[in-house]
Amino acid sequence: MSVPSRVSVVEVGPRDGLQNEKLTLSPQIRADFINRLAAAGLTRIEAGSFVSPTAVPQMAHTDEVLALVHKQNLRLSVLVPNLRGLIDALAAGASEIAVFAAASETFSERNINCSIEESLERYATIVAEARRHGVMARGYVSCVLGCPYEGAVDGARVASVAGALLGMGCFEVSLGDTIGVGAPIQARRLVQRVAQVAPLDKIAVHFHDTYGLALANIFACLEAGVRVVDSSAAGLGGCPFAPGAAGNVATEDVVHMLQRMDIETGVSLDRLLEAGAFACAQLNRAPASRVAQAYHAKCGGPADA
Ligand code: HMG
Ligand code: MG
Repeated sequence: MSVPSRVSVVEVGPRDGLQNEKLTLSPQIRADFINRLAAAGLTRIEAGSFVSPTAVPQMAHTDEVLALVHKQNLRLSVLVPNLRGLIDALAAGASEIAVFAAASETFSERNINCSIEESLERYATIVAEARRHGVMARGYVSCVLGCPYEGAVDGARVASVAGALLGMGCFEVSLGDTIGVGAPIQARRLVQRVAQVAPLDKIAVHFHDTYGLALANIFACLEAGVRVVDSSAAGLGGCPFAPGAAGNVATEDVVHMLQRMDIETGVSLDRLLEAGAFACAQLNRAPASRVAQAYHAKCGGPADA
């Protein structure tokens, strides 16, 4: 097995990170965070969600965030759960959306208040409508390696939902280990299972780091042929509908691991550490990133050295 020479990092901190933080940041600060992430060289960034503000108050006013972000050379994506969300996203000028299904019925009901089948029917309409407006759609499958309510999840179910999302026109499907219970061998097997229904270049991985295995899982998936990795600056966040789920794997830790293995990301670790520190200062919390902690302990030597 070999690893790639280049990996595309999808920064989800401004959405998946901030959606589960105690403090709600203003649109201006959320946009500043995104601008700093872009200045670090991240070109794919999830900027927010057009979901119910009662369900996720942290993501309210994502339209204002989009208006405030410098969009040059940036692929900004927003989460959309229904047609109302798509209409609002289009009105705000979104050029990429993400729809989010699950491989577990109970999680689907708790997260978006409908069954998996209902969600796929709904998303087929949304993706078709988005594409009609020239807007690309990404698909998520949640709970791919375990569900907080149902426990074990069948890989065949994950593959079937992933195949359905690609079949309706999503350009990529991101496999979400929502509660961070995956381990490397299981993660690699899952990628191999999904690769039976989807080309490897359309499969991304999305690990939450609840038990500290996210980097190992990512490495196992890179060896299986994955080239797109989701992560969140400073390891912010989690999912409000998955009790006990920790934040995503920290982008700093992913970029550091890849740099150390001579795998290109196009990201400046120094600038990324600054962006993560900015968000943490606004949230009044410490970074979950091990790399951020290590550089802080070293009192700020150049991270890219
Ligand atoms: P529902 O209750 O079935 O929908 O919610 P509804 O149509 O009956 O509407 C209920 C209320 O929400 C109404 O307001 C609507 O206007 C409003 P009310 O009349 O009660 O005041 N509403 C909306 N408001 C703004 N924008 C909208 C919208 N739609 C309805 N688009 C719904 C269904 C999906 C909308 C709701 O459950 C919801 O928004 N849930 C939030 C889901 C969410 O954001 N989850 C977290 C992201 S998923 C995740 O983190 C996993 C991922 O990271 C991958 C991984 O880690 O595995 C992606
Ligand atoms: Mg997530």
